[in-house]
Amino acid sequence: MTTRRTIGIVMNGVTGRMGYRQHLLRSILAIREQGGLPLEDGTLLWPEPILVGRSEARLRALAERHGLERWTTSLDDALADPITEVYFDAQVTPAREKALRTAIAAGKHIYTEKPTAESLEGALDLARLAREAGVRNGVVQDKLFLPGLLKLKRLVDSGFFGRILSVRGEFGYWVFEGDWQSAQRPSWNYRAEDGGGMILDMFPHWRYVLDEIVAPVRSVYAHSSTHIPERRDEQGAAYRATADDAAYGIFELEGGVVAQINSSWAVRVDRDELVEFQVDGTEGSAVAGLRNCRYQHRVGTPKPVWNPDLAATEDFRSQWHQVPDNEVFDNGFKVQWELFLRHVVTGSDYHWDLLEGAKGVQLAELGMRSAREGRRLDVPALEL
Ligand SMILES: NC(=O)c1ccc[n+]([C@@H]2O[C@H](COP(=O)([O-])OP(=O)(O)OC[C@H]3O[C@@H](n4cnc5c(N)ncnc54)[C@H](O)[C@@H]3O)[C@@H](O)[C@H]2O)c1
Repeated sequence: MTTRRTIGIVMNGVTGRMGYRQHLLRSILAIREQGGLPLEDGTLLWPEPILVGRSEARLRALAERHGLERWTTSLDDALADPITEVYFDAQVTPAREKALRTAIAAGKHIYTEKPTAESLEGALDLARLAREAGVRNGVVQDKLFLPGLLKLKRLVDSGFFGRILSVRGEFGYWVFEGDWQSAQRPSWNYRAEDGGGMILDMFPHWRYVLDEIVAPVRSVYAHSSTHIPERRDEQGAAYRATADDAAYGIFELEGGVVAQINSSWAVRVDRDELVEFQVDGTEGSAVAGLRNCRYQHRVGTPKPVWNPDLAATEDFRSQWHQVPDNEVFDNGFKVQWELFLRHVVTGSDYHWDLLEGAKGVQLAELGMRSAREGRRLDVPALEL
């Protein structure tokens, strides 16, 4: 007979966009729908969420909608529940560090959204505290588990590129100002005093994408802008956008690779996907998005000749090939949750921990400083 082992997970911030859709619905509830998470010894791990938030009414409605029994507005009560083993945080960024400290002090394993803190000092301190407390810890690095980036990684690992020369990334879309059409992102994202800003939001992602798929980041130069200075919030009230809504970054990677990544909420999409990375190497090139990855080998590379007197002679877009799926890709957030839960229970390998998360905060902090000071900054190695 299969044994079922329950693992209580305090989920804080589940009324938010990420907490609800990706973490509760697409990950934890999806694991329950598939009957639990099978472990190597045949045990089925059964995640039992304990919802935490500020609004009793919203928590109750959410719990009822999904047939869940445990919810509370008190983090301390949730941590004190005898089934609680893991604390998960998807709150607004400024609320995170304090809650993580509380959970570590209560001896709980930690899984958290990025950025782990608003300062590198805070992020490193969390990593230190978790190590001292002997609790297992993980940070969401979802882009690594996207089909498009998994295919890109496959190309890198196969040696397809030869020597990688450069990366150009385009991320972004138009986020409505909130006047004649409502904004599709929360207003705190556009207020620096509330933890908003493109660099703080996206550089943590670019850090692990570059470090893990291409090469470790060694320096950063960033230019940031607030292109839309006034927006309207969820209630329709005008507010001043004090945070950067676009960041133009140049990163030097180990081995001399140059990565340029534009991130903007004030750009209209002329791409196949909302994020795309083009990687050029001596032997071939590829463009990876969320789901797809197309490639061009040197033997299939056209030889364009610059002639402004003629219309384009070739259909360049048609000269690329799709990397096949070759496997079934599950939701990236869920895949990472499963790896983390296995790690908690069985001690299996897992290296996307609070120290890795601190690297993302480091790049964001240096990126913001670079933008302020207008100069390139080295990214030193981090130690605990
Ligand atoms: N991994 C990713 O791809 C990804 C994408 C978007 C956001 N995030 C991260 O997830 C976190 C949440 O972002 P989101 O877009 O879901 O935000 P959101 O505004 O939709 O949700 C925020 C949550 O925090 C709670 N909260 C706690 N204290 C709060 C306070 N003082 N003010 C307002 N809300 C408070 C809210 O109730 C809500 O549940 C952020 O740290 C963000 O950086 C990660």
